[in-house]
Amino acid sequence: MIELQDIHKHFGNGEGPRIKALDGISLGVKAGEVFGIIGHSGAGKSTLLRVLNLLERPDSGSLRVAGQDLLSLDDAQLRGARQRIGMIFQHFNLLGSRTVAENVAWPLRIARWPAAQIAPRVAELLARVGLAEQGHKYPAQLSGGQKQRVGIARALATGPELLLCDEATSALDPQTTRAILDLLAQLNRELGLAIVLITHEMDVVRRICDRVAVLEAGRVVETGPVAEVFLHPQHAVTRRFVQEAENIDENEQHEDYAQIHIRPGHLLRLTFQGERTYEPLLGEVARRSGIDFGILHGRIDRIKSTPYGQLTIAVTGGDLAGAQALLAERGVRVEVLR
Ligand SMILES: Nc1ncnc2c1ncn2[C@@H]1O[C@H](COP(=O)(O)OP(=O)(O)O)[C@@H](O)[C@H]1O
Ligand SMILES: [Mg+2]
Repeated sequence: MIELQDIHKHFGNGEGPRIKALDGISLGVKAGEVFGIIGHSGAGKSTLLRVLNLLERPDSGSLRVAGQDLLSLDDAQLRGARQRIGMIFQHFNLLGSRTVAENVAWPLRIARWPAAQIAPRVAELLARVGLAEQGHKYPAQLSGGQKQRVGIARALATGPELLLCDEATSALDPQTTRAILDLLAQLNRELGLAIVLITHEMDVVRRICDRVAVLEAGRVVETGPVAEVFLHPQHAVTRRFVQEAENIDENEQHEDYAQIHIRPGHLLRLTFQGERTYEPLLGEVARRSGIDFGILHGRIDRIKSTPYGQLTIAVTGGDLAGAQALLAERGVRVEVLR
């Protein structure tokens, strides 16, 4: 769906400072996948997203989106290509002087749809985002979540294969954020719509993305399946995002580790994924290998719809290698921390 190769983009015209917004970005997004791009403010996320529909033209690199080499298209072809790429924004960008229905109809008018087909299409789109009864209202009469639903309906109007989301939930409260993310996940499933979303919150990535790239200073510093990146972050920037998502206070964590380090024996971190997260594996492994264990830290949650658990345990006595083998046999990932 998307293939980016070595994309560079800088701002500044030689007088002011030269800002390297994108410093050699390569990444691929598959059809039907939800791809997250996470990074701090100024990392280059919005610029990258705007490159994907050529609202921003890169200085160099190659760019294939929805089967087309965007950089080789003329203006008319590019307008056509953009109808296959929808976009939603943090602040919704609705026209305040137009009704909800007129906002959703807007891209259809620009695409010169026959007038008779526009009203039924708008009704269908509003129903899809849960706003069937709201078409006559003005944006100012809607809640933030409803405004974003209008933004989504408008973005879907011309039937795109790809939806770009620029911090689409950052202006919303946690409950509304969840509802909008659920809607995006549903559209991904039901329409096979590929979604690229940028965010500064790991929790957004954890809820709906299949894969993620971590952006820092215009470069991809880590990328992979969300479960892999979330459970085993490699880069310092990624670790910070994961800690924020887990509400881990670093000072508290250091105290915990101080406690952990005075425990005798070995220290293991176990990662369970899928339904075995709920199985009583540990007791059985302890009985069979004769180890004794104490749980020092643990959590169970979900990545998209897959449950996972992560436990830090202190192990004494028994056959440690045997216990490790039994756990590995059951698909539990074991890391020996000490
Ligand atoms: N139109 C622009 N003109 C000049 N600098 C820009 C422009 N757009 C973005 N930048 C700069 O490029 C860098 C990346 O910005 P941006 O892509 O908006 O990051 P993010 O969305 O991750 O916060 C920042 O240093 C920003 O100030
Ligand atoms: Mg931004």
